[in-house]
This record gives sequence, structure tokens and C-alpha cells, in this order.
Amino acid sequence: MTSYNVGVLAGDGIGPEVMRQGLKVLEAAASVEGFGCELVEYPYNSEHYLKTNELLPDSVIDEVRTLDAVLLGAIGHPDVEPGLVERSIILGLRFGLDLYINLRPIKLYAEHLCPLKDKRPEDIDFVVVRENTEGMYSQIGGHLKKGTPDEVALISGVYTWKGCERASRYAFELARKRAAERRGDPRPKVTLVDKANAIRPHDIWTRAFAAVAQDFPDVERDHAYVDACCMWMIKNPEWFDVVVTTNMFGDIVTDLGAMLQGGMGIAASGNIHPGKTSMFEPIHGSAPKHAGKNVACPLGMIGAVSMMLDFLGETSAAARVEGAVGDLLKSGAVPSADARSGIGTSEMGDMVVERVRSD
Ligand code: IPM
Ligand code: MG
Repeated sequence: MTSYNVGVLAGDGIGPEVMRQGLKVLEAAASVEGFGCELVEYPYNSEHYLKTNELLPDSVIDEVRTLDAVLLGAIGHPDVEPGLVERSIILGLRFGLDLYINLRPIKLYAEHLCPLKDKRPEDIDFVVVRENTEGMYSQIGGHLKKGTPDEVALISGVYTWKGCERASRYAFELARKRAAERRGDPRPKVTLVDKANAIRPHDIWTRAFAAVAQDFPDVERDHAYVDACCMWMIKNPEWFDVVVTTNMFGDIVTDLGAMLQGGMGIAASGNIHPGKTSMFEPIHGSAPKHAGKNVACPLGMIGAVSMMLDFLGETSAAARVEGAVGDLLKSGAVPSADARSGIGTSEMGDMVVERVRSD
């Protein structure tokens, strides 16, 4: 029997609660589909930092490289300096494992979940390919004369040809794959989102994207500046198929995308380096005010489990999990992906498990 080694970082706030549901669903999918999962749990989170002063050690990043995949709950704690543990754990894994793609599907499962008028599931079904190791997240920068009236703060936006090229290539290949799954109709399309008018060095994206497009004559290409992208996402989300964009713009537009699909509670993501150990997490944060109350929606975490299964090649298990979530939302058994659903975190996890086992 195939068995996978999966690293688990439950994290802070609602992280451990949603992770428990994600792992329950993983176990159910594994037993139905006939594969195994060995979990390797890691203690690193903000509380661990507050107790021990230890962030994510480099040795753990090396150890994680030997696993098949990693699941992460959520990171962020009100008693810790903003971003310190997030940068160490989330960005540490993204950069340390060179997870250069952040894959964020924006898929509406049921019309009533969408805050836009008259938009149906067939109108909202696209994927954002967020470059995940460069841009404004480079951490190259700092402060000069901090705390004085002469203070200067600098941060470098780093864009490499390699980074733009490989993200664009992934996006074009993904567009082809999606089109093949829907039998070519409509034609595959990739939209580059940047700000090359105001930030002229973004022109490296324009050129790398155009160079890659040469290899994909069957794929339509499009372009939108990021401000216009936000507008089109609300006005005509049906225009998007695959979007490729910079690290920071991808961060921003995917929160907007999460709202289109029904809220932060439902959005999932994969931090991917094809062929290497990759990391899967919900898009939401640790939501400290909801922690420990059994009110967090576990569907984003469960969606991340489904993305991990797909990445591992367990496509039937991935579809089974995604199908279970979709069915519960479509039928109204789970009426929404937030606290208004009135269904507790663990109960929602149980409903998904039951559905996964019954199909
Ligand atoms: C996300 C988050 C992270 C990011 C934070 C927590 C560092 O917002 O995954 O979208 O900015 O990438
Ligand atoms: Mg974000």
C-alpha cells in the first residue's frame, strides 16, 4: 500500500481546530481509497515561540524536505510582534523549500454563497497562480534612523527572469490542463496581472510572459493591471480562467477571490514546487477571537487537504473530498462557510467525513 509522510503544523488560533477536521477527512479519504498517511507533527507556532523563544529551525526545513507534503493550519498571535512567526514559518517554508507557485482556486460551489448579484457557479471558476518566492516579499530592505524624524524605510521588489518565467509556464500548463478537463470549451486563457504602467520594472513580467506564450499557441493570453483586475473580478469574474501575478498582488486579489466564493472560511491554497515537497494551507488567518469556540469553518483546511491529495497524485481521493464539500454546500446542508452556518467546526468535519465515506 502506498503511504505518504505528511508534516503537520497546526499553528495558532483556529489552526489546531481546523487541522483536526482536515486530518479526519484525510484519514477517511485514505481508508476509502486505500493508501496510508504517516503524520509528522511539529510544535512550531507562536505559543511555542513565547515559551521557548524558538522560531522554525533551519534543520526542520531540511527534515521537511524528506517528507511528501506539509499541511499548515494558520499562524498569527496577538501577543507576538506582527509578522514575526508568520515570516519564520510560512515564508520560511515557502522560501526555504522554493515553493515558487502559490496556487489559489477561486471556485463558487453554490450561487447563494456569492455576494455578487446574478453570478452562478459557472461564472466563478478560475485559479490564481501567485508567484511565491520573490517580489515585495523578498525581505531585502530595512530601516535607517529608525524612530527619528529622519527615518527611512526601504524594501526591494525583486523580480527575476527565472521567477517570472517559471510562474508563467506553470500558468499556461495549468490552463491547458483545465481546458482538457472541460473538453476545450471555452478555450484556455491566461491573464497576466501586474502594474507595469506605474512600476516600470514589472515589464520583466510582460516580456517573460510573452516569451513563454510562444510555446502555447493554443492558449489565449490576456493582460490586466492589478487595479483593473479587481474591478473585473467583481464585474465580470467569468472572464478569468488562469491568472498569473506577483507575490503581493496575488496575496491581495485572492482575499477578494475568497469573498467571491463565499468567504475566507472556504478558500484553500497550495504552495508548490512541482516534484518536490510542497505545503498546503487554508487562505484564512488564525482568527484569535474565534479560537477554541468550535465556530471556525474547516472547509478551507479541508480544501487544502484535497489540493494536497491532488498534488500527491491521489486524484480520485482529491475529487472525492472536493466533491463532498461541494455537495454539502450545493444541497444547503452546510448553508454558508462562516459562523452564520450555525454548524460547529467538528460537526462540519464529521459531515464531510460521512460524505467522503458514503460516495
Ligand atoms: C497569505 C497570508 C500571508 C501572506 C501572511 C500571513 C504572511 O496573507 O498566505 O495570503 O501574505 O502571504
Ligand atoms: Mg493573504
